[in-house]
Amino acid sequence: MSPASSPTVFALPDAASDTYPIGIFDSGVGGLTVAAAIRRDMPAETLLYLADIARQPYGTKSARTVIRYAVQAAEFLVGRGIKALVVACNTASAVALDAIQARFPGLTVIGVVEAGAAGAVAASASGRIVVAATEGTCRSGAYERAILRRRPDAHVTAIACPLFVGLAEEGLTDGDIVESVARHYLSSRFVADEGNDCLVLGCTHFPLLTGGIGRVTGPGVRLVDCAGMTSALLAEALADRRAPSGGGGGLSLLVTADPERFTRIAARLFPDQESTAGVELVDV
Ligand code: DGL
Repeated sequence: MSPASSPTVFALPDAASDTYPIGIFDSGVGGLTVAAAIRRDMPAETLLYLADIARQPYGTKSARTVIRYAVQAAEFLVGRGIKALVVACNTASAVALDAIQARFPGLTVIGVVEAGAAGAVAASASGRIVVAATEGTCRSGAYERAILRRRPDAHVTAIACPLFVGLAEEGLTDGDIVESVARHYLSSRFVADEGNDCLVLGCTHFPLLTGGIGRVTGPGVRLVDCAGMTSALLAEALADRRAPSGGGGGLSLLVTADPERFTRIAARLFPDQESTAGVELVDV
């Protein structure tokens, strides 16, 4: 269903619906890095996480396609009843936030790019910041804009690292392969000592590979991801709509393909999450 032609058929929960779940989506396992931070910070909340496995990766698709996918994912989650939406995908956050907000004007929508940019500006002393992201995020220029708005004298270099997405989806999160892919993309920027002191992990899959990436960039480079800051922004936005404490909370997983594989990888990457027992296959 195209966003332009579809009528508004979803009723948004009202502000009092504090027990509704928080909807979260990404193309795959990467957004679970954000979901894990939200679980840690707001354990009473119920999270409904959608992994659009059938159409991943998002990062190599055109902005137009990613906007369509993101609006459809949002429509699906809103249709299930949510009180807020976290776009736990940098690629979708970079190009689709306005379209989602236009489709659901009353909905609280939080993206991850602003959070990553805020973290980078806080972490960098030199103002020379490298952003590792998908091709789509790099092409959008969203990180450059968000960082320069906060620190106009910053020097921002964006590097597309698409293979990191596949490694994370494969559950290959450390070791020689990760390190050699990290060296392929990143070593010239850091070994050459260009004064860069901060690397933004500008794709939610990338924090899963922190060990191998960090060994390539070295100890003088701060690795920043968007998970903690996104969770803080969400907590602020939901200040008067938080689930009652002691109310349980939890994480439900929905996938658009391959639930068995997703269950296996998610359980390996996030052994502390109770959710991975039953993954629901859905069609968005
Ligand atoms: N995890 C996503 C991001 O933050 C997308 C990865 C992909 O599907 O290419 O950009």
